[in-house]
Amino acid sequence: MLYLDNSATTPTHQEVVDAMLPYWTDVFGNPSSKYYSQAVDAKIAVNQARQSVAELVNVKADEVIFTSGATESNNFLLKGIAAAHSSRGNQIISSVAEHPSVLETLRYLETQGFDVIYLSVDLYGRIDLKDLERALLKKPTVLVTLLWGNNELGSLNPIKEASELANQYGSFFHTDATQVIGKVNVDLEKLPYVQFLSASAHKFYGPKGIGAAIVRKDDMGLSLKVTPLLHGGAQENGYRSGTHAVPLIVGMGKAAEIAYSRLGEHIKQLVKLEDRLSKLLMKQFGDVIHFNNDKQNKIPGILSVQFKGLNNEVLCKELAPVMAVSTGSACSSSKPSHVLQEIGCSMEQLRSTIRFSLSPYQSETDLDIFLDL
Ligand SMILES: Cc1ncc(COP(=O)(O)O)c(C=O)c1O
Repeated sequence: MLYLDNSATTPTHQEVVDAMLPYWTDVFGNPSSKYYSQAVDAKIAVNQARQSVAELVNVKADEVIFTSGATESNNFLLKGIAAAHSSRGNQIISSVAEHPSVLETLRYLETQGFDVIYLSVDLYGRIDLKDLERALLKKPTVLVTLLWGNNELGSLNPIKEASELANQYGSFFHTDATQVIGKVNVDLEKLPYVQFLSASAHKFYGPKGIGAAIVRKDDMGLSLKVTPLLHGGAQENGYRSGTHAVPLIVGMGKAAEIAYSRLGEHIKQLVKLEDRLSKLLMKQFGDVIHFNNDKQNKIPGILSVQFKGLNNEVLCKELAPVMAVSTGSACSSSKPSHVLQEIGCSMEQLRSTIRFSLSPYQSETDLDIFLDL
């Protein structure tokens, strides 16, 4: 069975599983405890993992806050920035094509008195910088939050330019980078105005239930203020209370190490696989398919394809014995895709769309399965 739903989640890499193993049994201490080896060694491991995650996105280790995943990171950052910095303005700017963990958090913030502008997107799900500037001109904005790479179409937003614009108008900038990590070069040293970022380990061959929120320091070297979501023992410098999930954190660190060291090779393989899959689909189904995704400026390895006249749910079910594919985002699989609606697809078009998401650990010959379909 060929697994082509890597944007929903990825299998945990064997080296990651191996790295985690001792932390369930031998090194089981609470890293906040002191003196004895189980605790001290657990703390060392957490700090090593923090260093690896920091390296992956090129920030300092103390700018990494471990969370339970990108949903929590998005909730924590959006609510926490809004609460801590509302004096900057009560407007928040985002886009209509965000992940539900951003959209639903923004809807909550609307009930708390924030005005949210949802920028529309083009045919491929990207915002227009002119729209962003127009929105920033309207009134003081506390935060601009934009998806780096779209989970259904793969399209990349102009993060550098958008973060510079936000800074020009005195607004903070956050990006949900969940889908791009491990597939695109994420170098925050080169993006000084991206102050906040969300990430999740299970999208880059790490375990589920662990992620990170990046909170950068200001020009004075002080950590930016974010009101915590979880109050308690003040772990993670008070940003995120709760006993550290040491095995999962170690797993995320190992996954980050692998993603960092193989980034170039993985990107090359994903580009190659995407090209081969596009060609195979054209060859087998050329007259009945349409690609929703752009061919360029995208996350490699994600294809969104309409199979005209077919129902995507039926197609996914029929294909299930031979391949795992999805109708779009796993987080909203029961609802028609809001992303495809926003790029102008009709109900019929979105009900016939399948998302294929590839893995750099697959080979071109794995895709030969399409020749038999
Ligand atoms: C863009 C994006 N943001 C956030 C999430 C949520 O991540 P997690 O499963 O870690 O909560 C996902 C998961 O599909 C995603 O694709």
